[in-house]
Amino acid sequence: MPDNPRSPGGLSLLMADITRLDVQAIVNAANNTMLGGGGVDGAIHRAAGPELLEECRRIGGCPTGEAHITKRYRLPARWIIHTVGPIWNGGGFREDKLLACCYKSCFKLADSHDIKSIAFPAISSGAYGFPMDRSCRIALSEMKAFLEEGGEERGVEVIAVCYSPAVYQCYQESLSKLLAKQPEK
Ligand code: APR
Repeated sequence: MPDNPRSPGGLSLLMADITRLDVQAIVNAANNTMLGGGGVDGAIHRAAGPELLEECRRIGGCPTGEAHITKRYRLPARWIIHTVGPIWNGGGFREDKLLACCYKSCFKLADSHDIKSIAFPAISSGAYGFPMDRSCRIALSEMKAFLEEGGEERGVEVIAVCYSPAVYQCYQESLSKLLAKQPEK
């Protein structure tokens, strides 16, 4: 699967295990307790080690759509940003808006910590059941907005991490549609 090249101030898609990425921040798709779970949450806690759970316990939880930042412990990344996506419930309970808030909250923390590279998993698209095409579209739209509103000028690299070819393909299709709508510069 050809990854499009990574670049400062750019957006790239990457097939990878997010716990292995040497970026300044990786984003965790957590739950409201922030006490770990399965999926990418479980992978990050396993890779980071038990000290991460202790810091998360001290934070005491995270409302859906918001985010908290912790140390990296045993991870190669410098920071872990934990956000809680909405559980898909048919679309009539502000799921789209709450998912968009996850990305906005993570970017706000990235800016306040002068983070220059941030990698996101496909938040809410696993156990939380968000339709993949919809979650990818929201993710890319928020990533593009962040880059256009100053992230690109500050040289921030944004990576959408895909853990399966199906997710990668979904991101690729969504990205093509998003760029097709882009007015010629
Ligand atoms: N690296 C990158 N992406 C991963 C990894 C990994 N190591 N492991 C899983 N993923 C991908 C999944 O394939 C999916 O595309 O992360 C995406 C999000 O899936 P989940 O981890 O299930 O997260 P989410 O749908 O937001 O559900 C969160 O699940 O694990 C629990 O505690 C978590 O209760 C919370 C819920």
